[in-house]
Amino acid sequence: MLSEKAINFYNEALKIIPQATQTGSKRPVKEYDGVMPLTIESGKGCRFTDIDGKEYIDWGASLGPIILGYAYDEVDDAVRKQLNKGTIFGMPSPIEYELAKEMINVIPGIDMVRFLKTGGDVCSAAVRLARAYTGREKIISIGYHGWHDTFMAAIPQFEGIPKVLRDLVISIPFNDFDAVKEVFEKEKENIAAVITIPFNFEDNPPDEQYFPEMRSLCDKYGSVLIFDEVLAGFRLALGGGIEYHKVQPDLVVYGKAIANGYPLAAFAGKREIMSVIDKTLITTTLGGETLSLAASLATLKILQRDNVHAELYRRGKTLMDGMNHLIKKYSIPGKLKGIPVGFTLILNDDISEEELNSVIKMEREIFELGVFMDKDRTWLVSYSHTDDDIKKTLEIIETAFKSAQ
Ligand SMILES: Cc1ncc(COP(=O)(O)O)c(C=O)c1O
Repeated sequence: MLSEKAINFYNEALKIIPQATQTGSKRPVKEYDGVMPLTIESGKGCRFTDIDGKEYIDWGASLGPIILGYAYDEVDDAVRKQLNKGTIFGMPSPIEYELAKEMINVIPGIDMVRFLKTGGDVCSAAVRLARAYTGREKIISIGYHGWHDTFMAAIPQFEGIPKVLRDLVISIPFNDFDAVKEVFEKEKENIAAVITIPFNFEDNPPDEQYFPEMRSLCDKYGSVLIFDEVLAGFRLALGGGIEYHKVQPDLVVYGKAIANGYPLAAFAGKREIMSVIDKTLITTTLGGETLSLAASLATLKILQRDNVHAELYRRGKTLMDGMNHLIKKYSIPGKLKGIPVGFTLILNDDISEEELNSVIKMEREIFELGVFMDKDRTWLVSYSHTDDDIKKTLEIIETAFKSAQ
């Protein structure tokens, strides 16, 4: 159980930080009250320590950025080296060019790259470019793309977003090609862009024809296809969804794992569309901040040199296979969806209240025994998870499953 000190700390933070966090998904979940850590003090490799000094094997990856591991020495050394040279200047620094060049080298089919700071920033930037390029205003949005008005306009329950923007965003679910087709048939040349996640770690991979057909529809109606790789990029594969699906979007955006946890995001794509930036405005003072760029260069180097993705798939598969076995053995009312580098326990639609309570009891036990899982039940593997960490995690899951029987 969390200590009184940890709970008091959180309550004090609530008084001066609305929601006691900067990130919506870091708000506590009622079901895990008292066992899910509220405040994390430090991390190393695949483990972190909460403010009670309790250590957890982490499978949340800090909501996606941690691909190599916390406080990864080689990345942090690159940052320290850059720190001695300065963090930001009144004119661009060479490292901006170096990283842009490296990204063009590892990501298929992109000509130009620009840097911003958050996933929301780059998604909004890509949509602005697409609107400027096509002279159209409506977009199709598939998946979550950040908190900006550009996307949240589609969700009426959020206040503070001008209603006039609502008709400009047509939001449809992932993996529903008929819905994409239907919108295009109705809107035809009104659609500036389709912005879509390339993968949903909470679902099975889409049908093989899903993305090629979406590409064809965008070509037919002259719309820009944008892959939002903020979560999937550098996790699905080195070349992200582009490499995984072998489909070329016109623009692509990255964030999260691009710099193993340092604040960086990027939008990239075809020269013809990226050059339209001259006709609009996309700018931020700290876009060329050098520490995150150095972290990203080091991260990309390690991902390639150590063939990290093969390892992520191998280790993720061990965990996924092990969990599948336990789910079956203990008749857990749900199944794993996704792929080894990112998968989610999806509970059965017809789960009874009693079964749900039993799942929550098991999950509370998992926290108690020192394994941290994402509250959306998504498990993300990092390069720091060893076979031993996976074995230990599976043992803890089995103990929790057993005790809830
Ligand atoms: C696919 C996707 N796009 C965009 C975002 C927004 O990124 P950020 O929170 O860095 O603004 C997220 C965040 O979860 C995301 O998963």
